Amino acid sequence: MSVNISEDGKFFHLRTKHSSYIFNVMENGELGQLYFGKRIHSQNSYGNLAKKERREAMVSWTTTADDFQPDNLKQEYASFGKGDFRDPAYQVTAENGSRISELHYESYQLEKGKNRLSDLPSAFGKASDDVETLEIFLRDSLLDLKVILKYSVFPNEDVITKSVEFINLGQQHLNLNRALSSQLDLPDDQYDLISFSGSWARERHEVVDRLKSGVQSISSLRTASSHQHNPFVMLARPDATEDQGDVFGFNLIYSGNFLDQVEVSSYSSTRVLQGINPEEFAWEVKPDDHFQTPEAVLSFSGQGKNQLSQQMGDFYEKHLVNPRFANQQRPVLVNNWEATYFDFDENKLIAIAKKAAELGIELFVLDDGWFGHRDDDTSSLGDWFVDQNKLPQGLAHLSNQVHQLGLKFGLWFEPEMISIDSKLYEQHPEWMIATPGRTPTPGRNQFVLDFTRDEVIDYIFDMMSARIEESKLDYIKWDMNRYITDMFSSNLSRSNQLEMSHRYILGVYKLYQRLIDRFPEVLFESCASGGGRFDLGLMYYAPQAWTSDDTDAVERILIQYGTSYGYPLSMIGAHVSDVPNYQTGRVTSFASRGQVAYFGDLGYELDITKLSEKDQSEIQKQVAFYKKYRQIFQFGNFYRLQSPFAGDHNVASWMVVNQDKTTAIAARYQILNRPNPSYLRIYFKGLDAAKAYRVNNSEEIFYGDELMNAGFFVDQILNINQPIQGSADFSSQLFVITEA
Ligand code: GLA
Repeated sequence: MSVNISEDGKFFHLRTKHSSYIFNVMENGELGQLYFGKRIHSQNSYGNLAKKERREAMVSWTTTADDFQPDNLKQEYASFGKGDFRDPAYQVTAENGSRISELHYESYQLEKGKNRLSDLPSAFGKASDDVETLEIFLRDSLLDLKVILKYSVFPNEDVITKSVEFINLGQQHLNLNRALSSQLDLPDDQYDLISFSGSWARERHEVVDRLKSGVQSISSLRTASSHQHNPFVMLARPDATEDQGDVFGFNLIYSGNFLDQVEVSSYSSTRVLQGINPEEFAWEVKPDDHFQTPEAVLSFSGQGKNQLSQQMGDFYEKHLVNPRFANQQRPVLVNNWEATYFDFDENKLIAIAKKAAELGIELFVLDDGWFGHRDDDTSSLGDWFVDQNKLPQGLAHLSNQVHQLGLKFGLWFEPEMISIDSKLYEQHPEWMIATPGRTPTPGRNQFVLDFTRDEVIDYIFDMMSARIEESKLDYIKWDMNRYITDMFSSNLSRSNQLEMSHRYILGVYKLYQRLIDRFPEVLFESCASGGGRFDLGLMYYAPQAWTSDDTDAVERILIQYGTSYGYPLSMIGAHVSDVPNYQTGRVTSFASRGQVAYFGDLGYELDITKLSEKDQSEIQKQVAFYKKYRQIFQFGNFYRLQSPFAGDHNVASWMVVNQDKTTAIAARYQILNRPNPSYLRIYFKGLDAAKAYRVNNSEEIFYGDELMNAGFFVDQILNINQPIQGSADFSSQLFVITEA
């Protein structure tokens, strides 16, 4: 049983294998939060956890219960305006303008398994995996508003999902000013808030801040989860490490404007809110209508951050990613973008594909520039028909040849976008997002289609479907290269304009779902100028994502290390590109570039026809090596060993281990070399202490406990003595650990 309910029906205890989440019905009929953390025994009541203290100078619920002071309580889904002055989880405006509401507990329903939400990406789970779903029915009787708090417990992965549905049972039009997916009130504030921030080409760098009094938040208002902040955050005890200590993970299955907010109260309790950003949001719930929030993901680990990342990653692979691809090994690809940019013809592409086949690569992806008359980024978005000048024999012809070479064929689209210089704009200027009377704001010379309109989605769906059918596509790279401005939709009335951002994202999800239903065999990769929409909402449809436009090996260590906290390796697209690197101008060795890109879904993004024989054979070796260990690189247990965000930022190491701990691969990256360095050992993790292993086919045998506790000697002199391309900087070493 994953959910225990006390005999009096007042206490709800959600239990995973290692965690407990407890809430109750308080004296005033609203819900209180009692505990989230390491698993504890189930009881019929939790008097100790529900204890309150009366404070001076505080508002109380009634004159008779003056110790019931909302500002001082830990609540489960708090309103504003009845004595709790912290930011609330929701707010409703009634027709008379009142913004006060009171949600009283009515009943609950407990079911086995977890169904998907209908219009939103969401987790799913079977009764046979002990998944249980608890729905708590609340009501504001004055507003005739029913609210369902939905909890699903995934005991094996130590995850709980939460979402909220608002149902208007009355006659008045209600307006949601905010409708967050999850609130969690913790009793103290001794945590670090760990978030993943950055910008284009340097996404998801780890940022650690000690909680302080007041509000601190991570958010987006770009109608995308964004390069700047990611919806995944952790709260960790300051003494927690990768391997021990208490850590909470929070994520949101959503791709639009989000808010992760932490508020430390004057009594040092901590409120975590997750959901759609209340800025730029409102939603009208008409009589008999409803509103469903996106789903929040919460997870607790008492064994540090590696454990947290692993259990959340497992959860996504089992309960979020399209099951058709969840366990399927991802193809090694070559993408022509950095090889040709817009300058290609069929011969050039076929030459790349031929070489790719020779080197063992499995998928050829034709990137931007194949449609309309797109010779640079100023035109043709929306015209999803082939450019006859570049490909006079058409897409099908190209795709046939690629298929004949034994490769899969993938194609780039940017479905949500429109160029002014396009046939689509000539025909439908009104489909472009713009505010009447104002000059629309360009981004990369392009504008955005109004995805709140069904006719727009129908049109793009038809265009894409035709291309998928004619060229028998195996793979689609769905890009999104600018954030959305000039928010206004002629599709929406004056009072509903604030619904636009969320409706836009629902439109994106609708198109994804329609394409997947019609073409279930096509594998999707999501992309937004690299990692601008690297989130769980898109992961539901597109099992892998382009992590960053930055393919420099050194920068990629930071980006992939940061990303690994919140997302599994199978989602992380990682490519080897040319040097000097396009984004940083840095020269790194082929080996280092490969050894970084192995830890994810490997690809190549350079003109492989122009490489020296030596580099070509290096690719061939890398691809063969990767394929041999692909299952581990994509689906193994990932351990962070040494952080590039810590110390002198000069070293990073990580490793993957297979399920039965018979094979593991570790990598150590030395960014700048140091003269006369200290004696060094690397301490592996996740091995079987009792198993005997060889490292890089060594004669000598080492037990797992020795490799993990005493460490493995690292020969640094070797690196200095074998400088690559004239430099011993940016070096890397790989350790293949196999059971002896
Ligand atoms: C974005 C993507 C790149 C590439 C270009 C094409 O920047 O992130 O990988 O597809 O668009 O214009």
